[in-house]
Amino acid sequence: MPSNQPQTIYLSDYKVPAYLVDTADLRFELFEDGARVHSTLAFRRNPDCQENQETGAPLQLHGDSLKLESLVLNGEAVAPSNYNVSDELLTVNQVPQHFTLQVVTWIEPQNNTRLEGLYKSAAMFCTQCEAEGFRCITYFPDRPDVMARFSTRIEADKTAYPVLLSNGNPVEQGDLSDGRHFVTWEDPFPKPAYLFALVAGDLLEKQDSFTTMSGRKVDLRMYVEPRNSEKCEYALDSLKRAMAWDEQTYGREYDLDIFMIVAVDDFNMGAMENKGLNIFNSSCVLASQETATDMAFERIESIVAHEYFHNWSGNRVTCRDWFQLSLKEGFTVFRDTQFSGDMGSATVKRIESATVLRTAQFAEDAGPMAHSVRPASYMEITNFYTLTIYVKGAEVVRMIHTLLGPDLFRKGSDLYFERHDGQAVTTDDFVKAMEDASGRDLGQFRLWYEQAGTPQLAISDEYDESAGVYHLHVKQTLPDTPGQTDKQPQHIPFALGLLGSRGEALALALSADELASGDAPQERVLELTEASHSFEFHGLSERPVSSLLRHFSAPVRVSYSWTREQLLFLMNHDSDGFNRWDAGQRLAIDVIQQMIGAPKDVTVDARLVGAFRHLISDADLDQALVAKMLVLPTVAYLAELTDGADVPAIHRARRRVLKHLAIALRDELVACYRRNIDSGPYQLGPEAVARRSLRNTALAWLLLINDEEGRSLGLGQYRDADNMTDRMGALKAFVNSGYDDDRAATLNDFYQTFQHDPQVVEQWFSVQAASRRTGQLSHIHALLEHPAFDWKNPNKIRAVIGAFAGQNLVNFHNPDGSGYQFLADQVCKLDDSNPQIAARLVSPLTRWRKFAPEYSQQMQAALMQIRDKENLSGDLYEVVYKSLAD
Ligand code: TRP
Ligand code: ZN
Repeated sequence: MPSNQPQTIYLSDYKVPAYLVDTADLRFELFEDGARVHSTLAFRRNPDCQENQETGAPLQLHGDSLKLESLVLNGEAVAPSNYNVSDELLTVNQVPQHFTLQVVTWIEPQNNTRLEGLYKSAAMFCTQCEAEGFRCITYFPDRPDVMARFSTRIEADKTAYPVLLSNGNPVEQGDLSDGRHFVTWEDPFPKPAYLFALVAGDLLEKQDSFTTMSGRKVDLRMYVEPRNSEKCEYALDSLKRAMAWDEQTYGREYDLDIFMIVAVDDFNMGAMENKGLNIFNSSCVLASQETATDMAFERIESIVAHEYFHNWSGNRVTCRDWFQLSLKEGFTVFRDTQFSGDMGSATVKRIESATVLRTAQFAEDAGPMAHSVRPASYMEITNFYTLTIYVKGAEVVRMIHTLLGPDLFRKGSDLYFERHDGQAVTTDDFVKAMEDASGRDLGQFRLWYEQAGTPQLAISDEYDESAGVYHLHVKQTLPDTPGQTDKQPQHIPFALGLLGSRGEALALALSADELASGDAPQERVLELTEASHSFEFHGLSERPVSSLLRHFSAPVRVSYSWTREQLLFLMNHDSDGFNRWDAGQRLAIDVIQQMIGAPKDVTVDARLVGAFRHLISDADLDQALVAKMLVLPTVAYLAELTDGADVPAIHRARRRVLKHLAIALRDELVACYRRNIDSGPYQLGPEAVARRSLRNTALAWLLLINDEEGRSLGLGQYRDADNMTDRMGALKAFVNSGYDDDRAATLNDFYQTFQHDPQVVEQWFSVQAASRRTGQLSHIHALLEHPAFDWKNPNKIRAVIGAFAGQNLVNFHNPDGSGYQFLADQVCKLDDSNPQIAARLVSPLTRWRKFAPEYSQQMQAALMQIRDKENLSGDLYEVVYKSLAD
């Protein structure tokens, strides 16, 4: 057992804070060899803390890696006998009811490689305080239910750091001696310390403005390194769209006079919603036509919106404790997904959300770290910024939206924001507001927050011809997860449609009376609450085809024995775009699974070829949907669906199907490519995006079969591209092709062209690390040795190591175990500099039980090797021990 084994923290141990902080006045002196933080905190006993009211409790403040320089209480130095400093806490034994504490700490941002608290990214200072980073800056009750009004004075060298930013509004600035200057910021809104932010640097400012619905003009400012001057426009436009959307959709208006966005290159996650001062990973905010793909633009729009939406769902109303993380993250992801759907195609957005959920969140739910949307315990909270909290949490909010309908949901969100403005609350408070506003009982629904695991729906049906009645039987089960067994049925909204033999929508009459009324709808949301249900649909003169779980109305697995004919029929006729796509996926899965280990003479079902021919050739279909339907299920998803998965075998089967399709549809692909060539200027609308996507899919398929015409189209596209989507589309196609010389030439040209742009170099790394051909271990090692690789930069680490282990499944699961060994080595190395990143990177190994024994044993061994590392961090400890536990 390592000595630094972290403690488990339980929700059931929650206690209100003993002391509250009314104001926190901070002064930062920034230097090259460190920073001095002067903090003046106005404390009082918490009237809601019984214990403290009666007896007077010691004051306990969190602190991590701090050097305490001075401690003064109500103007007098605290006697050494009255306080104690440990690794994690500063305790002052005797304090009065009200008091002012002045703390001075010394920290070393320039040596902070964990990127928590105050650190340096290139030449700038910046902060990351969520979840528990503020304690790396100064001693403080670093928990979200302690909310204080902050003021921040920043002092630094004026030449090196002309821009000094913090939360709220600037109230004073001026020059100091020695070429230094200062700016003071005041944030009028009380906030938890995790929303504190500071930035200092030589940054370029881009200005814009937004007039709110009540007519207030808000200054919008974006701060970037000068070389990124031309990459700000899209983020600022996205921000304005998000601000307008939140007013229209939720009635939420921005509340400060300034809203700032800062881009930093070294950042552990995507972005952070600090009050009035959102800080972004450069890769999630900077974009230009030449450097960002359509996917990157889409991601930027949604992340900018996500962080902005947090101003209400997260900042104005925040979390009581970190068990409630999904209160802000699930709700905010729901909001940003709604927004993206409204800005583009809601169906396409739904397909993308469902793909992430089914591929990665279902895997998390089925793995050793499975936890509920509101977990009951954790060791390291940063390990709980998971897909379950974020995207399953968003699905749970979405189901409430489905059950209540948009109007009652809006009444519920209005009530929630009004009732809890300025408070730190729980997921239960959120559900309660939805109940109170709608009058609906969500008692059983709350189980979605408490029970972990993915519900499974087993569906069967029969048709009674003589009565004209169709019977649908639905059974739900919820698998055991670590620490949770024998679970109760959940409240599941199950959207259903029925199709007649000509593809027409049939009425869904649940009784003879409803049939007679003539009012039966063509789609229903059935509410499943029991372990099993049987529904009857009346007045059907032939056996219908069911369209199950339309729009993916709940985050569940569905099993039903579709025939291939039924899937083809749904692909062509379902009025629900999501289920057309889903039918195509299920058909492809069925065909690929049949190919796993199949003898050479087994051929791909001609009906799949026919269906894809239709998709590629019919220009009247919704091209954005077609672009999605042409993407075969990934190896990752196919593996997720398989117990005892043999990844290389799955990969071979998938390729066999892909190549068969490409050969059979070769002429159609060329025609599709040519039909979708853009003539006019570059545009970002959904149609233009769909055209590029179709063209690049066609190109990738043609190069996969070494087609000479495809090759010349690809070389032309690479050379003439006026945007990154096309340039990257061609590069990727060559990287995955058998044209070795072209691959080397395009990779080389690409690097030469873009070597000065870190965001593009990241893409160059990951396209290689994720490729079957260029991503073999020897190449990966070469990438790690490349001068542009940087062990201190999370984006580069993710672009090489993350892309290899997370996307290059066939090479990662090399039967000789070298991929696993490689990951274990890198994770151990990273753990010493950035444990958060190390703990996230290890996740592909944690799924070891899913794979065939020869793989599984080697994965387990790699995990054990990490477990035995010296000075294992708490972050990695939790993931590795939970993964190895039986
Ligand atoms: N709250 C951030 C979000 O918008 C997540 C985040 C940013 C974060 N940086 C972090 C979480 C560092 C943990 C650690 O989703
Ligand atoms: Zn968030």
